[in-house]
Amino acid sequence: MSAETLNRSVKRLSDYQPPDFAIDRTDLTFELDVDKTVVTAVLELRRLDPQVSELCLDGQQLQLLSLHYNDSLMADDQFDCRGHQLRLKVSENNFRLTIKTQINPQANTALEGLYFANGSFCTQCEAEGFRRITYYLDRPDVLSVFSTTIIADAAHFPYLLSNGNKVEERPLSNGQKLVCWQDPFPKPSYLFALVAGDFDLLRGEYLTRSGRLVGLDFFVEKGQSGKAAFALDALKRSMQWDEQRFGLEYDLDRYMVVAVDFFNMGAMENKGLNVFNSKYVLVSQDTATDTDFFNVESIIGHEYFHNWTGNRVTCRDWFQLSLKEGLTVFRDQEFSRDMGSATVNRIHAVQVIRTAQFAEDASPMAHPIRPQQVMEMNNFYTVTVYDKGAEVIRMLHTLLGEAGFQAGMRLYFQRHDGQAVTCDDFVQAMQDANHYDLTAFRLWYQQSGTPELTVQRHYDAPNQRLTLRLSQQTPATADQSDKAALVLPVRYQLLDTTCSPSGLFVMQKSSDTLVFDGVSAQALPVLLEDFSAPVRLKHDYTEQELLRIAKEAANGFARWDALQSCWLLWLQQTMEQASDFVLPDALFELYQQLLSQPLDDKALTAELLKVPDYGVFAESFQQIPVHAILSAIDSFRQQICQRLAPELQSCYQQHSAAAVDYNEANVGLRALKNRCLDYLAVQGQSSESLLQQQYGAANNMTDKLAVLKACLNSSHPAFLSLMQQFANEWQHDVLVLDKWFSLHAANPTIAVFEQISLLCQHPKFSWQNPNRVRAVFHAFAMQNPGQFHRLDGRGYQLLTDTLLKLDPINPQVAARLVTPLLSWQRFDSKRQALMKEALHRLSSQQGISDDLYEKVSKALANE
Ligand code: TRP
Ligand code: ZN
Repeated sequence: MSAETLNRSVKRLSDYQPPDFAIDRTDLTFELDVDKTVVTAVLELRRLDPQVSELCLDGQQLQLLSLHYNDSLMADDQFDCRGHQLRLKVSENNFRLTIKTQINPQANTALEGLYFANGSFCTQCEAEGFRRITYYLDRPDVLSVFSTTIIADAAHFPYLLSNGNKVEERPLSNGQKLVCWQDPFPKPSYLFALVAGDFDLLRGEYLTRSGRLVGLDFFVEKGQSGKAAFALDALKRSMQWDEQRFGLEYDLDRYMVVAVDFFNMGAMENKGLNVFNSKYVLVSQDTATDTDFFNVESIIGHEYFHNWTGNRVTCRDWFQLSLKEGLTVFRDQEFSRDMGSATVNRIHAVQVIRTAQFAEDASPMAHPIRPQQVMEMNNFYTVTVYDKGAEVIRMLHTLLGEAGFQAGMRLYFQRHDGQAVTCDDFVQAMQDANHYDLTAFRLWYQQSGTPELTVQRHYDAPNQRLTLRLSQQTPATADQSDKAALVLPVRYQLLDTTCSPSGLFVMQKSSDTLVFDGVSAQALPVLLEDFSAPVRLKHDYTEQELLRIAKEAANGFARWDALQSCWLLWLQQTMEQASDFVLPDALFELYQQLLSQPLDDKALTAELLKVPDYGVFAESFQQIPVHAILSAIDSFRQQICQRLAPELQSCYQQHSAAAVDYNEANVGLRALKNRCLDYLAVQGQSSESLLQQQYGAANNMTDKLAVLKACLNSSHPAFLSLMQQFANEWQHDVLVLDKWFSLHAANPTIAVFEQISLLCQHPKFSWQNPNRVRAVFHAFAMQNPGQFHRLDGRGYQLLTDTLLKLDPINPQVAARLVTPLLSWQRFDSKRQALMKEALHRLSSQQGISDDLYEKVSKALANE
């Protein structure tokens, strides 16, 4: 086999074999140096199957310095070290290996394994980064007790951190220092972490329910510790919430969080030592928006909740990723819901499913929440595994109820604490604790795609009987052609004249009926309250019926959802009608009402007043009419502004006095006020003073950014001068500068191309920093559909040039950015040709990474 095919091999779930060896102890010593770090790993190995005669360890980008078997140095002909493996014949059941390797953290721009960036050393081991540190059984079902000794220059790296408890710290000769850590909990290598650097430290403490005092340490860039106060508080709230809701307590004496500016993802749950992307730790009112605050709280929660769902019980293999991620997202969503507006939280979570996740199902990368084959594991940290995975857990919760679900969780921990298990083990615990047969439900783990649930209504007047015929069908996906019926929990309410009962209907078959007796001809069913199943609902409701639901449904989500359906109807009508489509009076009446008498939940009011984004509309088409959608959105916004200007103005005035703190009430007020501002900006010149006034007076980033966004959305002439002002104010703060980069990259005019090339020359821009790269190019590819999908192909070209440059630097980030190019089948034939041309340019690139190759080759597979 050539090295190429070896690298590109696909791993399958069905090929899973348990490990041949256990590693009972892993003792690591790091002699840190920016380009020549020496790692000594002492591994206590135990053979599990006496038939096995060869040990095969994973390793990548390592320079092997020496290998000892017990106490004897192995000669070069006593082992085989080629490609990404170290192979060794073994005859004993218990033995010790001492492996010395040298690595170059400074050259590690992929940010996997041990890397040196921005003056600190940092690790990222999930999913398979540990093999870039030493040779190891780098798989999640090998659990080991770790100790870590770190030796480094004391002046440059006063903090030397790793998992668990610090057991030793002492100065060495020539300015070096040594720190030793021990983690008592056995863990897989992906949860290992090491950080070394000079930080400011924010400390707090938390007293657990059982009376243990836990030290909470936040390590952040010098001068930034004030901006970690909210995250520290969010951590305390997470700890308390997990005790109350799930009965789960923290298990070490110290919980450390390090914030770094160079990071591939959001954050990482390493045992006792979380590493965070600094944008999810550092917030203050003047630098961060309400959305940023929300994200910090939810990600702090997410990583904390992993300590039980992920770390204490981990995954057997990476195909089971949703075991920890789906469950932990469900937990963090429940936490966020208890901290803020429950309805708005649900709306936002559902939007992720309906836009990004449904789009993934329709793409060449379609996969079930438990994928069956994988080339590069990093490509499977997806909205399907995470967010659809959370929806699957939520359906279990809906079927079993809170008490039943918690009983299932208790049984899961009772059975599997300290183990590496499968999604099936989780479902089995839920099943056994509830004596509830989940056999059919398990199909959710196997089957990919977006189910379509069709409802037909029939009213039998003489018998006052309403019959709903429900049928489900899942269209074929790129990875699977045959689909079966799924278990769909359908929460409903029947709106009727005298009473409006609600309930749960569990659909099990491909078609079924739901019958309501003794109901009037006006009875109207509200289906999928709170989006009780992740499906596309197909109905034939009229505008009048939908607006009735929007006014009368008990469930806030269902009210909002009915309005979403109206918008889809109105978009259809706009596109079908030759003359200009006029939005119905009923909408303006509803909006007038909401503006003059907002609901108690102001954030929900703001959501109800919103014209859906491009992405929401786009996902309702097989073939996406980019410009028709964009111009319809423009027309909708203009009509709302024209018809409701006085109401928008007075609602704006009445809600402009929120205090600065981040809390549910203030967030709601700002959301509502800024929704009004966004419409008022459509007036152009005449709104200039209002925009300038808010920009100048704002004491928080939410209000400042809202002005810039309103200008952008309305192509307001004030945009560029305000952007200049903003840049002058925030040169020094990279996280704020990222917002400025993104706004420029989302500019819907052709000037964006010139602008982006200037951004890439900005002194604070760096191709090595994922936050900077994403700020520019994620915004361009995802928030600027008009320019990205230009018919002259310039948008696709820019993204392709970027990916070719980025892939050798950071393949993981490159592979995430390629996503919008993969779905060429969703566009007209001209764009299809241009997108495929771009994909061919990528696939013919010499030395393209596995990450990018897996996606691009799938996208081109059935061309
Ligand atoms: N396990 C992390 C989480 O969900 C995700 C993550 C962080 C990750 N960094 C990564 C996954 C790098 C793959 C590669 O919180
Ligand atoms: Zn996670």
